[in-house]
Amino acid sequence: MKFNIAVIPGDGIGPEVTKQAQKALNAVADVYGYTFLYKEALMGACAIDETGNPLPEETLNTCKKSDAILFGAIGDPKYDNDPSAKVRPEQGLLKLRKELGLFCNVRPVKAYDTLIKNSPLKEEIIKGTDTVIYRELTGGIYFGIKELSEDGKIAFDGCSYSIEEIERMAHLAFKAAQNRKRKVTLVDKANVLETSRLWRKTVTELAKQYPDVELDFLFVDNAAMQLILNPNQFDVILTENLFGDIISDEASVIGGSIGLLASASVGKESALFEPIHGSFPQAKGKDIANPLASILSAAMMLEHLGLHEAAQAIDDAVQKSLELGFTTEDINSVNPFSTSKVGDFIADYIQNKEDSNLNFNNIHLGQSTII
Ligand code: IPM
Ligand code: MN
Repeated sequence: MKFNIAVIPGDGIGPEVTKQAQKALNAVADVYGYTFLYKEALMGACAIDETGNPLPEETLNTCKKSDAILFGAIGDPKYDNDPSAKVRPEQGLLKLRKELGLFCNVRPVKAYDTLIKNSPLKEEIIKGTDTVIYRELTGGIYFGIKELSEDGKIAFDGCSYSIEEIERMAHLAFKAAQNRKRKVTLVDKANVLETSRLWRKTVTELAKQYPDVELDFLFVDNAAMQLILNPNQFDVILTENLFGDIISDEASVIGGSIGLLASASVGKESALFEPIHGSFPQAKGKDIANPLASILSAAMMLEHLGLHEAAQAIDDAVQKSLELGFTTEDINSVNPFSTSKVGDFIADYIQNKEDSNLNFNNIHLGQSTII
């Protein structure tokens, strides 16, 4: 089976982590007999540098023609520190989401037993956490009318949602819950915002179609607190764009490292897979960034393409690397492995499992090599 994959390495550590995800994909291609045809494309600061446009037309076309998109990261400090910059790397990603209609962002959050000590949160609080955030991705304040008064003293960001936008999201969240713990928590700010009241009304109505799923509600400020007080109460969290952006970064603390959180952005015709971490410019080119979120994003991509066994093989390899401590410095400060070594390990494990010619004995010394 052949698949066309658009690869957008992007900025900062994006290229180096994406490369490891491709190693994992090549390994499953080899084991299961698939062919992945990669087409690289530019987006973000690197695209601005080369073409003046954060999302060149060619990239958009490559994405439209692909079966799935693998994306690294976006952003560069030279733009973050310049509020007057008219063209920004992030505009590339936002435009891509909008143009491809990637309205549903799925962000799983898990407390891996092997990593539980890495989280700054107490073990008894996070143990067993297995939740998934369904974040609306193409509406809300991100895409509302933006204005700055002529004298530059007043700024405005509009936020709007339609029933249709809410319903298509909610259906996906309820369907996900049906295959999980059968609970949806709608996170909103319905005590203040009109858009949130529309979310509540619409989701309450739609929930009648899913009588096997429990629905509850939390205001976003309370949800932010509950997420780190008692994350085990959550199954599927359904929320709008900005709230989802914020609470998903917060939730990454549960897993012990933001370097572990993968995500899928799904639309009617396209789907994009990316780690939720940013471009981490300080680490760029140093071969120290954690590639697991990108590798897990590749696993989500395989799942989306219906290649369940292959997705599982990547998940197992990631699990193994965590168990053995074959990980980068963010989760293994004592004997860290480099980004590329972790990628090699994952690919090798997928191909050889326990028969790996990897020297397991020296892993605790941080010296294991593939021999
Ligand atoms: C994310 C990122 C983006 C967002 C940025 C880069 C525009 O933070 O994917 O969570 O805010 O959606
Ligand atoms: Mn974010």
